[in-house]
Amino acid sequence: MSQDNQFLQGKIALVTGAGAGLGRSIALHYGNAGATIVVSDINEENGKETAALIAENGGTASFKRADVSKAADAEALVEFAVNQYGRLDIACNNAGVAPPATPLAEVSDELWHKITSVNLDGVFYGMRAQIRAMQQNNGQGGTIVNIASILGQVGFPGLGPYVATKHAIVGLTKQVAVDYASQNIRAIAVGPAFIKTGLESNLDPKSRAALDEAHPIGRMGEPEEVGAVVAAISAPTWSFVNGSYIPVDGGFLAR
Ligand SMILES: NC(=O)c1ccc[n+]([C@@H]2O[C@H](COP(=O)([O-])OP(=O)(O)OC[C@H]3O[C@@H](n4cnc5c(N)ncnc54)[C@H](O)[C@@H]3O)[C@@H](O)[C@H]2O)c1
Repeated sequence: MSQDNQFLQGKIALVTGAGAGLGRSIALHYGNAGATIVVSDINEENGKETAALIAENGGTASFKRADVSKAADAEALVEFAVNQYGRLDIACNNAGVAPPATPLAEVSDELWHKITSVNLDGVFYGMRAQIRAMQQNNGQGGTIVNIASILGQVGFPGLGPYVATKHAIVGLTKQVAVDYASQNIRAIAVGPAFIKTGLESNLDPKSRAALDEAHPIGRMGEPEEVGAVVAAISAPTWSFVNGSYIPVDGGFLAR
């Protein structure tokens, strides 16, 4: 672990959905920046692997399983962080699921609730518990980063439930600023475009090329390009940024 860029030194952070993809990259970047991390995921094996990778890099991490769609799990996760490390300074609500492309009129009740329970209920349950813990930080508050998407700003064919939840996350993020900025609690929504987290390897070459070309930069993003941004904006130097939506999108939303 590099010692020259420890801008999160002394901070206690939790990351949901940190067993894979963006969540794993975010947790590793938090670790490299000197934070102590509670790695959480519904998948115990993958989550433990992320915690081990942080330790291999010289960082400090422990794993706590949580299904973000369950309020009791969200509360137990925050309780674990506070019991283990004394406080919670940073929370990244990253866990999310995407539906198979389905036109809105064909979306079943089951599919709607499957997506909204993780992506939206999960962020609400998480933030409610996290804010309560951050209110116990002797006025120092804390930072919440919610992983939305470019689809928190625009629609996309066949992804109605996902688009709805990601727009709602952007709204909930603004609400934290309105309700809690006076207590030094801030929230930022991050909007990744299409990132190479594995699913893209199943695409046929034509669909893959079309996805690359949808980004002015001419390619999809790498998980590290999101992890690095999330760690940076979690730093105390970003204290005046609150309720904002930050795209990380290779220019996707710019045209
Ligand atoms: N990959 C992309 O292109 C992309 C783009 C924009 C936004 N996002 C968002 O980034 C976040 C992470 O996506 P990803 O691509 O890394 O996904 P991923 O599928 O690679 O990883 C998601 C992780 O979340 C965990 N998870 C799933 N349901 C959970 C639950 N109920 N409780 C706790 N953990 C759960 C999974 O076990 C997995 O480890 C999501 O919110 C997603 O919507 C991804």
